[in-house]
Amino acid sequence: MTAFSYRYLGGAAGVLAAGLGAAACAQTTAGEATTPTAPVAARRPSDDADAIFGGSLPPGYRDWRVVSVAHEEGELNDLRAVLGNDVAITAYRAGTLPFPDGAIIARIAWKYVPSEDNNQAFGREQSHVAGPPANGVQFMVKDAKRFADTGGWGFAQFNDGKQVTDRVKLGGCFSCHEPFKQNDLVFTHYAP
Ligand code: HEC
Repeated sequence: MTAFSYRYLGGAAGVLAAGLGAAACAQTTAGEATTPTAPVAARRPSDDADAIFGGSLPPGYRDWRVVSVAHEEGELNDLRAVLGNDVAITAYRAGTLPFPDGAIIARIAWKYVPSEDNNQAFGREQSHVAGPPANGVQFMVKDAKRFADTGGWGFAQFNDGKQVTDRVKLGGCFSCHEPFKQNDLVFTHYAP
């Protein structure tokens, strides 16, 4: 339940988050289901942003809609899904750029593992599926004013539900996303 706790992010923390150029977020393991409740439905994007930069996973993020999926090889070796809150999905579908304030994009991921069950069904080795959660949960939160120094996006990561506070790591988020200006720093395209 701690993942659902809500913490108000005071001014000082907000400044810190902005100064980091990335924020922290909360991650549960990718597989952890969140239970939608009335309070979650009533949340505004700013509530989720405050939770993320206050160190908690925003309740209900696991129920956000799918933007697309990807497979990373190398050391990451994961299957990943990119999810968007309502503001993000609406912007994606309308092709709105830059993304409006309130858009939040999440990246969850799982180990890329072979499936023996599936292979048996297919009669050959060809199936790979999502294994245990891997590589944390990442968020990009759009707020043009609050995150003006980092392209209007706040970046955050949660490992095992704990906010990553390493400034070097968080600084790396913006440096790598920043060159992709033509798409408002967002790499993932909407998969219809
Ligand atoms: C070395 C480059 C690099 C770094 C560093 C990096 N990212 Fe990304 N990020 C990408 C790429 C490429 C994608 C799209 C492909 C994918 O998801 O693997 C992506 C995808 C994302 C997405 C989904 C939206 C999108 O842009 O496609 C989020 C959210 C995200 N990253 C957040 C973060 C956060 C938070 C950090 C820092 C903790 C971070 N990223 C660090 C390259 C990077």
